[in-house]
Amino acid sequence: MGNPGGLRPLDDPQDTPEQTESTPQTRLIDELRQELEDTNRGLIALHTELENARLAEARLAAIVASSDDAMLSLDAEFRIQTWNAGAQRLFGHTEEHIAGQPAGTLMPDAAHAAFDAAVEEIRSGGRAESHQCRWRRADGTEVDVAVTVSARRDADGTRVGYCATARDITHQLAAQAELAAARTDREVMAERDRIARDLHDMVIQRVFGAGLALQSTAARLHGPDAAKLHTVIDELDATIRELRTTIFDLHQPAQKAASLRAQVLDEASAAGDRLGFAPAVAFEGPVDAALPDATAAHLLAVLREALSNVARHAHASAVTVFVRAGGDLLLEVTDNGRGLDPAVTRSSGLTNLRRRAERLGGTFGITPSPAGGTRLRWRIPLTGTDPERTP
Ligand SMILES: Nc1ncnc2c1ncn2[C@@H]1O[C@H](COP(=O)(O)OP(=O)(O)O)[C@@H](O)[C@H]1O
Ligand SMILES: [Mg+2]
Repeated sequence: MGNPGGLRPLDDPQDTPEQTESTPQTRLIDELRQELEDTNRGLIALHTELENARLAEARLAAIVASSDDAMLSLDAEFRIQTWNAGAQRLFGHTEEHIAGQPAGTLMPDAAHAAFDAAVEEIRSGGRAESHQCRWRRADGTEVDVAVTVSARRDADGTRVGYCATARDITHQLAAQAELAAARTDREVMAERDRIARDLHDMVIQRVFGAGLALQSTAARLHGPDAAKLHTVIDELDATIRELRTTIFDLHQPAQKAASLRAQVLDEASAAGDRLGFAPAVAFEGPVDAALPDATAAHLLAVLREALSNVARHAHASAVTVFVRAGGDLLLEVTDNGRGLDPAVTRSSGLTNLRRRAERLGGTFGITPSPAGGTRLRWRIPLTGTDPERTP
């Protein structure tokens, strides 16, 4: 047949009788052929699409299989469905063993809340930030991981379950801790150097000067008065020797810092020997988390002086130490002793505590306590300022 699907003028005089006669059939055939061709093109397109999807899926599967991260998919009831090699390496379960088990198998009690919060976030249409926690291995040991949870959806976009990845962050956390410890050491050493310098340049010189003055006075006196002065001069000499030892100690590397909570408890129990009773200690707020490293050293020094004052001056039978961290850091030491003697004006220790507070932008006060003794309050802000930058 000549020119079957071609366009022709309707009244083409060249039309053959057969063509004119068979027009409906020709049209039908043409339409069928057209349809076949369309179907064919559609099939080819579909095939290409499927092939691309298959390739993409294979690439994805390769990534999942070779990833160091643990990757698992969960059904809507949080049962584990798939489990990659990274998950097996990290947690020790084989895929056959873990498949069908609840995801909770991997979570110690403490890990549930953060996971549930992530799921809740996804359910309410958001994206869950990755969170740090500890998950449990097959052998019962725990490992620090960063967990990311996301929704798993079918082709229609309906959520059919969840995906979770867990990355081992043991080394990362160790490096962070080391860094923080190094920073604390450096800051504590700087603080110690400063104190040692102050002691050497100011305190020793003054004590030494006072000793010299007393000596020249003593030279002009006789009898018991002279003897008394010489005792004082000997005391001053002993003080200078002690100060030199302290300066030497200050230049030794700092002890590795324990948590502030632990250090406060240590300090309190050490003071118990001198007090004759154990101080009661209470904490409120994120005492360890909220503190810049150097701040802890200040608080401990203040606590030490406060407890030593109670032991030396208060004649108390009870003392309470209260540490609260929040927007600010508060140390409160309350005793039930005999209270401040208004006649006493000498106060190097208390002045030092006030200076420490003011240098850190905070406040210091010592007032009668409700129980009859004294209450010392030392408070510094925790946010925004870097105390060590202040001269
Ligand atoms: N908890 C307390 N109870 C009674 N008196 C106190 C208490 N704390 C301090 N004081 C009084 O305040 C004075 C000043 O204290 P401080 O500045 O630490 O100097 P120091 O302890 O060297 O005497 C003390 O000598 C003492 O009289
Ligand atoms: Mg004192």
